[in-house]
Amino acid sequence: MFFFRNGSDSDSSDPFLIEERNDDSENSHNSDFPYHHPHHRHKNHNNNGRYFVLFGIYSLLIVTIVVIRVPNKRNTPTKPSIPREPPPVKVFLMVGQSNMQGHGYIDRVDDDGHYYNGTLPWMVQTYPETYGKLRQPDGNWTIRKDVWVTYNREHYLDVHNHVGQYGPLYPGYGGDPGDQDQQMGPELGFGWTLAESLNGPKQEQQILLLKLAWGGRSLAVNFRPPSSGGTTGLYYEAVIANTYKILAQFGLFFPEFDGRYEMAGLAWHQGWNDGCDVNMTAEYEYNLANFIRDVRRDLNVPQLPVVIAVSGFQGYEPDHGRRDAIVEAQFAVANATKYPEFAGTVQSVDTRGFKRDPLPSSPGTQGYHWNNNCETYWLIGEAMAKSMLQMLSKKQNQDHVHHGVVETKLS
Ligand SMILES: *[C@@H]1O[C@H](CO)[C@@H](O)[C@H](O)[C@H]1NC(C)=O
Ligand SMILES: *[C@@H]1O[C@H](CO)[C@@H](O)[C@H](O)[C@H]1NC(C)=O
Ligand SMILES: *[C@@H]1O[C@H](CO)[C@@H](O)[C@H](O)[C@H]1NC(C)=O
Ligand SMILES: *[C@@H]1O[C@H](CO)[C@@H](O)[C@H](O)[C@H]1NC(C)=O
Repeated sequence: MFFFRNGSDSDSSDPFLIEERNDDSENSHNSDFPYHHPHHRHKNHNNNGRYFVLFGIYSLLIVTIVVIRVPNKRNTPTKPSIPREPPPVKVFLMVGQSNMQGHGYIDRVDDDGHYYNGTLPWMVQTYPETYGKLRQPDGNWTIRKDVWVTYNREHYLDVHNHVGQYGPLYPGYGGDPGDQDQQMGPELGFGWTLAESLNGPKQEQQILLLKLAWGGRSLAVNFRPPSSGGTTGLYYEAVIANTYKILAQFGLFFPEFDGRYEMAGLAWHQGWNDGCDVNMTAEYEYNLANFIRDVRRDLNVPQLPVVIAVSGFQGYEPDHGRRDAIVEAQFAVANATKYPEFAGTVQSVDTRGFKRDPLPSSPGTQGYHWNNNCETYWLIGEAMAKSMLQMLSKKQNQDHVHHGVVETKLS
């Protein structure tokens, strides 16, 4: 198994603690996998690497590839219409550090009981035409059943309990353990914007936001991709392994799930920690490009659309230093002249204009958390979704040119 010492002492009926159940044939020597020997994992990058043996087994046992032909209209005789099954669930990974977790204070009030600027109720009240939809007439937050969320919600020292919260989308999938329902991140604007575009009134396109984020983690060390050399980051490994695990056990969280999903995209919002160190800053672009290549390879989706929300915490005030350099590196990876391999499938979105001043213009003062401003987090999510939709529509056109789309299906 990937993360647990050994399954016997865990309660496998608890969906928060997913046990690995498909490793019967491959379990004799994996109790130390992979975190005690990350070097080995990197070196064993061939078929006798334990890592890839496990992934091979995953793909053989769990994932089968289904190719759906797009019918050629001219040659297709009219047939009695068969009831159409809904499209497979579109899965979006949301990966990063604390700002992907999200630290927007949803409903903080001042001493007089007034909502601070930048809280969600303030947004609804101040811009009802834009955000009124988030609230129901009875005052409850709107729940989007066409968007499912799983959120690891785990302390950065803990990569065991990889689904700490799950359910339909509503405000409250942000923050650290204990912040449930009090903080939000980019998932709210991301999910709403994707769903409004991908779904008509019938809402038959189910979306899954698979959030994997840990506070205070760097790309250079913690998320370090294998292709960058050195020790592969624990959190890189966790992103890949948790994605497979969560999808393999997904029915535990959402019994309505019929087993069909499509890995649709990845959203990345990370960069504070690397910006604290001159050497990590210098290699950020290199590491981010490698991260994209490696995630695509390890998830077996070579053209996976990737959107990067740049780390624009300074707003447009230049710091002439590391923070600017991180933002430049994040933009550079999406520069098609520099990275032709990413053209059309990697985009960076600007976030600097989303910065709001601290209290009292925001509910908080944590500059490294966008002053805890919910509007900022919404705008980041919305911008990432718009970019993602653009890439998806291009991709769809290409798929039609090739007369097929590839789906992955759980058996
Ligand atoms: C609104 O929230 C209240 C309090 O949590 C709850 O009792 C009520 O059932 C909710 N209304 C709806 C329509 O969900
Ligand atoms: C950055 O790298 C240089 C060269 O390897 C090294 O001398 C220096 O100590 C490093 N700086 C930090 C802050 O790690
Ligand atoms: C993209 O990269 C090329 C080559 O490095 C560079 O000349 C160009 O200015 C970059 N474009 C942008 C918009 O930064
Ligand atoms: C708070 O928001 C209101 C609009 O609701 C605005 O008029 C006011 O200037 C804002 N205050 C600060 C300190 O940003």
